[in-house]
Amino acid sequence: MSKKIKLNGVEYDFQEGDTILEVASRNGVRIPTLCYMRGVSPTGSCRMCMVEVEGARNLLPACTTPATDGMSVETDTEKVHKVRRMNLELLIAFGEHDCMLCEANGDCDLQKLAYEYGVETVRIKHDAEPLPIDEDNPFIIRDPRKCVLCGRCVQACNEVQVNGAISFGNRGFEAKIVTMNDRPMLHPESDCVFCGQCVQACPTGALTEKKSKGKGRVFDLQKIRTTCPYCGVGCQLWLHVNRGKVVKVTAVENAEPNQGRLCVKGRFGFDFIYSGERLTTPLIKENGEFREASWDEALDLVASRFKEIIEKHGPDSVAGVSCARSINEDSYNMQKLFRGVFKTNNIDHCART
Ligand code: FES
Repeated sequence: MSKKIKLNGVEYDFQEGDTILEVASRNGVRIPTLCYMRGVSPTGSCRMCMVEVEGARNLLPACTTPATDGMSVETDTEKVHKVRRMNLELLIAFGEHDCMLCEANGDCDLQKLAYEYGVETVRIKHDAEPLPIDEDNPFIIRDPRKCVLCGRCVQACNEVQVNGAISFGNRGFEAKIVTMNDRPMLHPESDCVFCGQCVQACPTGALTEKKSKGKGRVFDLQKIRTTCPYCGVGCQLWLHVNRGKVVKVTAVENAEPNQGRLCVKGRFGFDFIYSGERLTTPLIKENGEFREASWDEALDLVASRFKEIIEKHGPDSVAGVSCARSINEDSYNMQKLFRGVFKTNNIDHCART
């Protein structure tokens, strides 16, 4: 027999192991979240998803509370709003959130929630010395003053990418996200591999990308979906484009094959697009020097040289390695050329360049 839970008076089925939040989001009942991230274990640290459960002494976090048969939950009462507003105030009081200059302005869950819950003033004052901004990492800026210790970066590093480079450190006002032994987020000082998954997971401006700093905020950028040009996995990317220039790359969430993950090359390795060193015309080497040539001239030369070598030394004297960046159709044509025309099986593909 199916199990039932009531959300705001409406009955829904659920599966054993579902949390209140999972049942709610599956059925279009909105419960605000900040620390929750799909696909990783919930940290239950932000307390934004508090709900009223009939019979419970206190409000409960929907992201960590399992649904039980016959449970009755209210997600939108004045009491719930009051607690969420207070929790937001506490989160904001702990840091320094200068939205005017923040890279995450317009793309910050904390900002959106503060607006939604009308948090205009923060009554609590926290006077501990602000922690310094860490800009040691070549790709990532860590600003602990904007960190709400939600732990999404830690989960992204440990459970999504399984790198284990960061974790919670210290206690109380000293609490912060640390690398092993609190060393700079560099290699080999830390285990960080610069995949930037922590940046993608961060719901505030605590983790931002160095390369895109000052190059446009969410409302200046156009998002264009594409496939990563590096290896053959075919990871799905969003190109964030400002005035025709790519300024940032993020992974498409909930899409195969990468499901929101990217490696360092896919996320940060896009400078080649605008490199002045890109070859834009074929080059032919003569007397040790390269000279520019037309495509017809270059292809005729390659074809005649292949022919010459094969005539002299046989088909197995040539080999081809197709590029990992090639699309399937190009790789197919390449093997056809070698097997069908040159009559050799000396053809391979480099998995990663
Ligand atoms: Fe549930 Fe943060 S979303 S505690």
